[in-house]
Amino acid sequence: MQKASKIYELFLSVTPGLEVFAKEEIKDLLSSEFFSEVVLDLEDGLTLKSSDLFVLLTTIKFLKIPTRALLRIEEFKARDLPKLYKKLTKINWNEYIPTTENDFKVSSHNSRLFDDRKIIKATKDAISDYQKAQPFKAKYSQLEWSHPPIIFLRFEEDMCQLSIDCSGERLDKRGHKILSAKAPMRESLGAALIRFINENEDSDYPLLDPMAGSGTIVSEYLLQDELNNKRAYNFENFPIFRKLPAKKIEMAPIEITRKAFANDINQDNIKAIKKNLEQYNLEVTHGDFFKMKELNHDNIIIACNLPYGKRIKTQKNIHDFVNDFFSKAQQIGAKSAYAVIPETFIIDKKFKILRSQRINNGGIWIQFVRASFI
Ligand SMILES: C[S@@+](CC[C@H](N)C(=O)[O-])C[C@H]1O[C@@H](n2cnc3c(N)ncnc32)[C@H](O)[C@@H]1O
Repeated sequence: MQKASKIYELFLSVTPGLEVFAKEEIKDLLSSEFFSEVVLDLEDGLTLKSSDLFVLLTTIKFLKIPTRALLRIEEFKARDLPKLYKKLTKINWNEYIPTTENDFKVSSHNSRLFDDRKIIKATKDAISDYQKAQPFKAKYSQLEWSHPPIIFLRFEEDMCQLSIDCSGERLDKRGHKILSAKAPMRESLGAALIRFINENEDSDYPLLDPMAGSGTIVSEYLLQDELNNKRAYNFENFPIFRKLPAKKIEMAPIEITRKAFANDINQDNIKAIKKNLEQYNLEVTHGDFFKMKELNHDNIIIACNLPYGKRIKTQKNIHDFVNDFFSKAQQIGAKSAYAVIPETFIIDKKFKILRSQRINNGGIWIQFVRASFI
């Protein structure tokens, strides 16, 4: 009888509140021929499954909203440290992480093993003893890891689920930001905002971020369909991946031509945007948004991560600032305007408002808010 092929599982971690956007993003990606064998399982968070490890791991380069991707390695029962150690010495670590520097993340629920330090020590000992018995090939010691591989051990009812992070640096780090402004927005949040806008606007709209900072929103808009190969991923170092025959990624060509505009009051930010995004279809201006003249494009959509909180001070009361932002967007002729703001901000009843669900942005609950003017 033919042996059934192994199904690999990739767990995607997502900022709380961005799950719906990530789900839509994954569904869109899996609708393309190249990824058609990959299945999305929603039973335990967002998990991608496939027998084709090359294709499964390649999804990581396309997904803009998840923060990390963890490859499930093994699941076993472990009620005490000697048992855990024994199980871990049996893992074929050389297939995944031929390095002696690792990070560890432990979580435990309803399990006899719960002490992080003891669990990490047993894991380190097991990896070290495994590597002494079976040293990895010398060529692998030359590999560069953008972030030491993180080994995740999750205990639930005495079952240990072992996963290895495939991302390296967090996935929202796109690799094209050379210069960064004050309080930059996480790119994953920017990508989710673009999804929210796309859902509510006709395709092919011109986008203006009038307080663009380092340009996260416009860059996520312009690069939304592109594979991100401007950075390294830890999985590219895994010997199990390196041994696989590479497949040519064929995706349907994207017809949409996108145009974006970025403005900021701060000259350093303007320099950063120009440097970060010089090769894209972007017009950059320097000035105060509240003094901006009428737009000379029809149907412009404005989107902005408004300055708020301790790191960025505004002279005005924050509620006035948001309402002035929407009023100004309307006055200069935008079709609609989107703001990323804390959910507690009060918006004038005169605006026709649509809110996304709440998102936990580093401890502050925020929302995408749309005001439409037509
Ligand atoms: C929260 S930051 C935007 C961060 C941006 N989304 C990013 O990811 O880098 C707010 C930006 O608004 C700019 N700003 C504040 N008041 C402004 C104004 N009146 N006109 C134009 N830009 C302004 C600041 O210089 C700052 O770069």
